[in-house]
Amino acid sequence: MVRHFIDLFDVSPETARALITQALALKQDFLKGNRPPHLARRTLGLFFEKPSLRTRVSFETAIAQLGGSAVFLRAKDVGMGVRESVADFARVISQYVDALAVRTFAQSTIEELARHASIPIVNALSDAAHPCQALADLMTIQETLGRVEGVKLVFVGDGNNVARSLALASALLGAKFVLAAPPDYEFPTHFRTRYEARFPDVPLTVVHDPFKAMEGAEVVYTDVWASMGQEDEAEYRRAAFAPFQVNEELLSASGPEAIFLHCLPAHRGEEVTADILDGPRSRVLPQAANRLHFQKALLMWLMLDQLPGGA
Ligand code: CP
Ligand code: NVA
Repeated sequence: MVRHFIDLFDVSPETARALITQALALKQDFLKGNRPPHLARRTLGLFFEKPSLRTRVSFETAIAQLGGSAVFLRAKDVGMGVRESVADFARVISQYVDALAVRTFAQSTIEELARHASIPIVNALSDAAHPCQALADLMTIQETLGRVEGVKLVFVGDGNNVARSLALASALLGAKFVLAAPPDYEFPTHFRTRYEARFPDVPLTVVHDPFKAMEGAEVVYTDVWASMGQEDEAEYRRAAFAPFQVNEELLSASGPEAIFLHCLPAHRGEEVTADILDGPRSRVLPQAANRLHFQKALLMWLMLDQLPGGA
């Protein structure tokens, strides 16, 4: 059966843990100057409907450093669903590349591709989820704090794709996730329903007071207030989210050693002030760097079925 990575709902705790262990080991090896060709002559396709820096470049360099190559397909050039059906696109591209990373608006597009493809399909961000980001972030937490289990991770802002995937990654790995969001921007009901069915013993905590959420926080995370595709809503979202800006005052209510994470790109002066994003608690650059090492572990698992512990 073909293995996909389209939503953390479908990933086991063992696999999530093993991917992070593998990513940390690959990083150590890379820092020693080693670039073993584990994926020699393998090819990764990337199909993107939205812009990207980190995800695109980390996937392309990950496969290149592992001895393979990448083919980037901008959605408007390929015309999937316009020149031909999604199913035909999936069946044809499956003959050329060994896996396909997909960045779309609708999660259903990625699911439709997975139904018709005979190669692994990877969610490289959709409106609903950003699973590669979330597991790479828990890798950063493991690396920085030395543990994930029991860590209090507070996401301040929109209950968006990144927040949802972080909630799932936390539930898989035992971190204590809290969303601090305005009432109209919590997780959607369909997400909560599915979460409660998958993790009946792990409460999905949402609070509306960001200062209260900060109590004992070890990781404070935020993301843009208007995601890609929501540009028209940016102005009224700015008003709704203003009390949720991560600034010195809010961060001082967290644990004394709390670190700050952001998936980037960031808007200084909106969801986070420049002094926090560029300050001593921020780990956003090593966080972005870890995307590369996590993508390597993910590609090896999808293409070779190789993970420590055989997860
Ligand atoms: N964090 C992240 O996914 O960045 P890009 O949108 O630049 O890929
Ligand atoms: N929530 C953001 C994440 C970007 C990496 C977006 O979807 O635009």
